[in-house]
Amino acid sequence: MQIRVVTDQPWDVDTEVLAVPVSTDDEMPEPLAELDRRLGGDLTEYRRVGELNGKAHIAALLRGTEMGAGWVLGMGIGERDKFDRVQAVRLGASIERRLGGRSVSRLAVWLPAQLGSSAGLDTAGLVELVTRGVVEGEHEPAAIYRDSVDSAPPRLDELTLVVTGGDPSVLTAAASRGQTIGAGANRVRGLAQRAANDVSPEVLADEATTLGNECGLDVEIIGPERAAEMGMGMFLAVGKGSDNPPRFIVLRSRAAVAGQKDGKGRLLAFVGKGVTFDSGGISIKGAERMEEMKMDKTGACTVINAIATVARLAPDLPLMAVAPAVENMPGPHSTRPGDVVRGLNGKVVEIQNTDAEGRLILGDALTYAEQQGATHLVDVATLTGAVERAYGKLITGAFGAPQDWYEEVASAGARQGERYWQVPLVDEYRADMDSWYADFNNTGGTEGTLVKSGLFLREFVTRPWAHLDIGGSAYLRKATPWAPRGATGVTHATLVELALSGASSSDGDGSRPS
Ligand code: BES
Ligand code: MN
Ligand code: ZN
Repeated sequence: MQIRVVTDQPWDVDTEVLAVPVSTDDEMPEPLAELDRRLGGDLTEYRRVGELNGKAHIAALLRGTEMGAGWVLGMGIGERDKFDRVQAVRLGASIERRLGGRSVSRLAVWLPAQLGSSAGLDTAGLVELVTRGVVEGEHEPAAIYRDSVDSAPPRLDELTLVVTGGDPSVLTAAASRGQTIGAGANRVRGLAQRAANDVSPEVLADEATTLGNECGLDVEIIGPERAAEMGMGMFLAVGKGSDNPPRFIVLRSRAAVAGQKDGKGRLLAFVGKGVTFDSGGISIKGAERMEEMKMDKTGACTVINAIATVARLAPDLPLMAVAPAVENMPGPHSTRPGDVVRGLNGKVVEIQNTDAEGRLILGDALTYAEQQGATHLVDVATLTGAVERAYGKLITGAFGAPQDWYEEVASAGARQGERYWQVPLVDEYRADMDSWYADFNNTGGTEGTLVKSGLFLREFVTRPWAHLDIGGSAYLRKATPWAPRGATGVTHATLVELALSGASSSDGDGSRPS
């Protein structure tokens, strides 16, 4: 897709569909009023009858008259003063999805001057987020295994962002960054939703290898024999019940291999849970919605693609991604409740519940990342069902220590329109995880299970660390105006933003002007 940013008046843009944000606010400022006049007052009339009332994601397609565009898509954005970064991404995505089933190859989105200014969003930020939204809107999970899909969002050849002013090279770079980040998120989604009979740990490792090679990353895949020699007892305990052998995936940028640090003096490591299917193991899950557990590899898909996206934007930035991949199955070789294993950091763990498997593989992965020199860690995991019960599908539960590192991660997320809410790490709950035989158990009763999942992981880190639990936010069970049901790609943009915040201009063009 060709992307261009222009400063023409919206009616002068030559395109098939011109998308126009419409708010619930009554007055119609220029140049929207001029657009309305050229449409013979249709915007006013559509508002009067309630067809295009400005409510968020309510949209109408109008024939374009006296203008370069063949059609005008009015898209509701709610109250103009409440338009923020979350809404900016959704604006782009809902425009693209509203055009599902239509034959459109050239789209323009008009971004009026004040849009987002109440949220402190400048034109470059707006262009980046809306572009990312349009690209993310193109993702169609129904097409993963089908040859053709009805009402699929259109494949665009050209996207034009129409703005009122600004430095053209900065705006073009912002659009291109949005496009690259959106494409990365779509790759996360495509991979995360592939079935468990298609993507085994080995296939996930192959996908990571292909992507890593494409992006100039160093790829290392550790199999079970080497993992055993190294002492990854927790990682190995989870994959034992499956015929599909585990793979411990490690990607590094060349600068990381060379031992360099980023502009903030850090070697950042992304760690992602890669359970290609979570049956629960011997502590088997109930049958209800077990099919969703093919998506228990989403954290791994996220970190693999996030490092690839960063490599495209800032190829010289030091960065590492670690993705332990296993299939959690019951069988004669499975780990049993009560089994005791030793993790890579030497701690001894009693596995009371084989369904609390994510924390086991992540524990060893976090230790490994530190052993490899990571100074700052962020892990992403569909770790608990509890986080979905607490926060639902639109907020990611997050933990971290020390607090300033947590805040750095969450604010990178906020800049990309991704929402987090912090869960406290309450030391007193740790006693519920005491074991008779081991240093601690992998679970501890029915209370505060979300907090305890974080306390478990904390046993395996000694450096600044944040944990993003996407158990709720990783996938939607029903479609919204801005996304289909299925994987969301959430946290990919946060990780990319966080890494780029450590880029200096010599690392590539990923660093931000301000
Ligand atoms: N992968 C699941 C968590 C999950 C469940 C994510 C549903 C998304 C939707 C995880 O491995 C798990 O089974 N967690 C258990 C932990 C419990 C046994 C302490 C849970 O949340 O029930
Ligand atoms: Mn589980
Ligand atoms: Zn799991």
